[in-house]
Amino acid sequence: MDKISFGIPGLDDSLFGGIPVGNLVLVSGSAGTGKSTLCMQFLVNNSNKGLRSLYISTEQKEKDLITQGKLYGWNMDDLIKSNQLRIVYVDIIKDSSFVDKIRDVIREFKPNLLVIDSLSTMSDFATLSDYSKNLVLKGASHAFGQGLSTVIPKPVFEKAIMKQLLSMFLAEIRNYNTTTLLTSEAPVNNEYSTFESASEFFVDGIISLKSRSVDDILSRTIEIRKMRYTKINGGVKAYELSDNGVTLPW
Ligand SMILES: Nc1ncnc2c1ncn2[C@@H]1O[C@H](COP(=O)(O)OP(=O)(O)OP(=O)(O)O)[C@@H](O)[C@H]1O
Ligand SMILES: [Mg+2]
Repeated sequence: MDKISFGIPGLDDSLFGGIPVGNLVLVSGSAGTGKSTLCMQFLVNNSNKGLRSLYISTEQKEKDLITQGKLYGWNMDDLIKSNQLRIVYVDIIKDSSFVDKIRDVIREFKPNLLVIDSLSTMSDFATLSDYSKNLVLKGASHAFGQGLSTVIPKPVFEKAIMKQLLSMFLAEIRNYNTTTLLTSEAPVNNEYSTFESASEFFVDGIISLKSRSVDDILSRTIEIRKMRYTKINGGVKAYELSDNGVTLPW
């Protein structure tokens, strides 16, 4: 099977070359572990090889991501100018039609590689979106769905809707035939799970980033916890965040 490498020695070796084409992969970790950096590095390295890359951010504006990328020494402007890379900020707080926006930009740009940063913020707001309202309306007109929200306690109902939305959204993303990274915030006290834990079962792969301070030393570790359609060299490995982005010491 064809693979897409990160361009990060050590990580690509653990994946026996890279991520299998078409996979949907969760990059999970707590705040500041380098999720966005790892995702942008994946896109930059591959758009330099000619793959069309789309970065959808619900957290950082285009210009902030470009500034950070330049600090890592990446040729952001060239890639954007040549239309190899596109960065799109989606305001999920103000814009209830954000799912449509995301869909439109994917259909228009037709990327080979896609990043959605982050799935966690998206799912936090999912129940407020038009997408969700339509789903609830459909549920309400369905014999089984009729009055469901009045019978089931609200938090349970919302959680179920969120899970359904998530699975529908990810199923839709799969149809675009992109190789996709989705970032997901892991709680600090339990980095082995994600807030929208259902997503772990819907995806093909999980790469988990952790950082831990012991005395005055910050240690960072990366682990590939799952990757369908390829062998993996499992285990926990050290990584660094530096002027070059994410690197794994050999
Ligand atoms: N040149 C650099 N050298 C070392 N560390 C850096 C450098 N540039 C950025 N960092 C570190 O990278 C981290 C931010 O990385 P990034 O934004 O990719 O993390 P994240 O997991 O996406 O965070 P968030 O949860 O806030 O979205 C910061 O903690 C910052 O200190
Ligand atoms: Mg981030």
